[in-house]
Amino acid sequence: MKSLRIAIDGPAASGKSTIARRVAEKLGFTYVDTGAMYRALALKAFREGVDIADTDSLRESIVEKTDFAIIDGELAMDCRPISNEIRSEKVSVLSSRIARIPDVRSFMIEEQRKLAKDGRVVMEGRDIGTVVLPDAEIKIFLTASASERARRRTLQLRSMGQCADEAEVLRDIRQRDLNDSSRSLAPLRSADDAITIDTTNMTLDEIIEIVVEKVQEN
Ligand code: CDP
Repeated sequence: MKSLRIAIDGPAASGKSTIARRVAEKLGFTYVDTGAMYRALALKAFREGVDIADTDSLRESIVEKTDFAIIDGELAMDCRPISNEIRSEKVSVLSSRIARIPDVRSFMIEEQRKLAKDGRVVMEGRDIGTVVLPDAEIKIFLTASASERARRRTLQLRSMGQCADEAEVLRDIRQRDLNDSSRSLAPLRSADDAITIDTTNMTLDEIIEIVVEKVQEN
């Protein structure tokens, strides 16, 4: 079967996860949330008391002892499903810090390429179209204003039973935007051949329709 890899990148809370999951369901493709991989790794380091700044311990005790797989269609770390705890604001901040570490990024790139191997995948993150799958058949870059993204993320956190203050969420989003786009390794940016969609005033269904149309044209 012809390979059809869809790379969806964009900043925090731009709608990547919901859109990527729904597009994958529609097409019967594997869905891979690479942000969840960074988040799960950060939570594991935190739980095991490994300081992210101690890169040797991080590599030996965490990175080299972790593996990711798709089990029953869902991303799993160390053979276990990834819990909703990775969505807390504390883990958001830790994941953005862990994502700057070269050993972590090279490990993730390798794991992500393995997960995309069967060629029918929707993979979302920050560097999928630029670094992980530079020859993906379809590349989408989603954006939205920071205030709209903060509004969406606050609603999402509240729907998961977490208390969230929109002004604080906005500050965190701005900080992560800065971290993610200013880091020297695989910074957040759209690939030259990506289709950019500003989702600020669009509904989910409208965005999904555009992505599915691109797939059909391919
Ligand atoms: O859902 P949200 O957009 O808030 O974040 P995420 O996609 O879950 O990613 C969490 C963090 O992981 C980001 O702030 C990035 O620092 C990092 N990340 C990355 O560096 N590269 C990726 N491909 C995916 C996530």
